[in-house]
Amino acid sequence: MRKKIAAGNWKMHTTIEEGVSLATALCQADTASSDRVILCVPFTHLAAVAKALDRQAHIALAAQNLSSQAQGAYTGEVSASMLVSAKVEFVLVGHSERRTLFNEDSAMLRGKIAQALSVGIKVIYCLGEPLEIRQAEAHEAFVLDQLQNDLFHLSEADLANVVIAYEPIWAIGTGLTASPQQAQDMHAFIRASLANQYNQALANDMSILYGGSVKAGNAREIFSQPDVDGGLVGGAALVAEDFAAICASF
Ligand code: 13P
Repeated sequence: MRKKIAAGNWKMHTTIEEGVSLATALCQADTASSDRVILCVPFTHLAAVAKALDRQAHIALAAQNLSSQAQGAYTGEVSASMLVSAKVEFVLVGHSERRTLFNEDSAMLRGKIAQALSVGIKVIYCLGEPLEIRQAEAHEAFVLDQLQNDLFHLSEADLANVVIAYEPIWAIGTGLTASPQQAQDMHAFIRASLANQYNQALANDMSILYGGSVKAGNAREIFSQPDVDGGLVGGAALVAEDFAAICASF
């Protein structure tokens, strides 16, 4: 059975102290209607937030990025094994901000996914189309292309350690949310593509999260769609009461 997941992506926000306060507040909130809460925090915050989450099995620690290389002379990079030693359970790969602002292409994403899975870190793989592709009604072909280039080389066993997050770029940080029906349609398309490429059982077990202006006020309606298994939340994950309300929206 696939899991209901509420993931917060803090992006490049908060000091360590603010991050610890946020994590501590979430530990005290009632988020039990989600199977899993995941906090995607800045590298600098990992150790302190891990400590704040101590013994909260329900809340997992995630990084927002990792290197596509295992180790070596890569100044400023953070490796998968470093993340393991920082008690990280998940890592974001393929976020549109990294694809567009940092030119991460499919070859690099495949390298990052391989690094994470090789050390037992689960991947939250993000994909989604820009506005012009949506307006041209080419969004399904665009997303299928991303799946084929970035993910469909993986084995069934590896995919069991992947969560997919559909984030239409036009809905990220814009206040524009995909309608519940638009989210449902794309999630059903992604699931059908997984069934075509692999099999129905694997497709049924895949958690597919929606991201893009998820708020306390719209989470319940989006999460109630049959193929939406939760959310990847940016701005609203920075306010403890708002994110706690989203976590309780299943
Ligand atoms: P917002 O929720 O701020 O739109 O951000 C979504 C996102 O990019 C999460 O990864």
